[in-house]
Amino acid sequence: MTNLTKPHPESRFWNRMAPGYARSTISDVENYERKLRETAALMRPDMQVLEIGCGTGSTALWHAPNVAHITATDLSSGMLDIAREKARTAAIENVTFVEAAAEDVPQPDRPYDMIMAHSLLHLVKDHREVITNMANMLAPGGFLVTSTICMSEGLSAFKLIAWPGRILGLLPRINFLRKRDLEDAVQDAGLKIHTCWRPGKRKAVFLIARKPA
Ligand SMILES: C[S@@+](CC[C@H](N)C(=O)[O-])C[C@H]1O[C@@H](n2cnc3c(N)ncnc32)[C@H](O)[C@@H]1O
Repeated sequence: MTNLTKPHPESRFWNRMAPGYARSTISDVENYERKLRETAALMRPDMQVLEIGCGTGSTALWHAPNVAHITATDLSSGMLDIAREKARTAAIENVTFVEAAAEDVPQPDRPYDMIMAHSLLHLVKDHREVITNMANMLAPGGFLVTSTICMSEGLSAFKLIAWPGRILGLLPRINFLRKRDLEDAVQDAGLKIHTCWRPGKRKAVFLIARKPA
């Protein structure tokens, strides 16, 4: 199933990255596992979940046994091919992988109980628009769960190479968000922050927000 009529401009970069991304190891296992645990604690067996920017599917496949169904989307067919293969190997049948850009995720028949977006919101053109769309697709009482790299508060040398790197096709689009930008966008979209922590100055911000019931 695909929602893209023509390849997204960023898909070339991410398709090229996909095999290496699948082979890479998690750099901060302790905090990755803490995020999984905090997310799983909010899940119920009847939940319908959406993940946007699922990459090679590791997080969706880890959570699959905890919920009824996960729709896991990404704009990269290369990432999704690997994710589907991992699901087949693990005999996980309640995750559907869909090719779709974050800006253009198909509206569900019924709202989602949880939407996840990890290492994604700093990559989209307009994080506020994507957050608002996610909020609109959530059921009352539903959760938004996101781990977001907020680079505006560090990595200043990286800012200098971000634009030339993109022109040369060596880097994807990157937005230099602050933690505050993320929190403001989530609250402006009508969600209430439930949890927000960052394990270190240069680490991703983990945020859980809830749509009022
Ligand atoms: C850094 S990887 C993170 C993958 C996964 N969420 C994880 O945490 O391991 C970013 C992913 O977002 C996808 N992506 C980038 N821009 C996107 C967009 N505008 N819409 C949907 N997916 C996007 C890429 O294809 C890639 O799979």
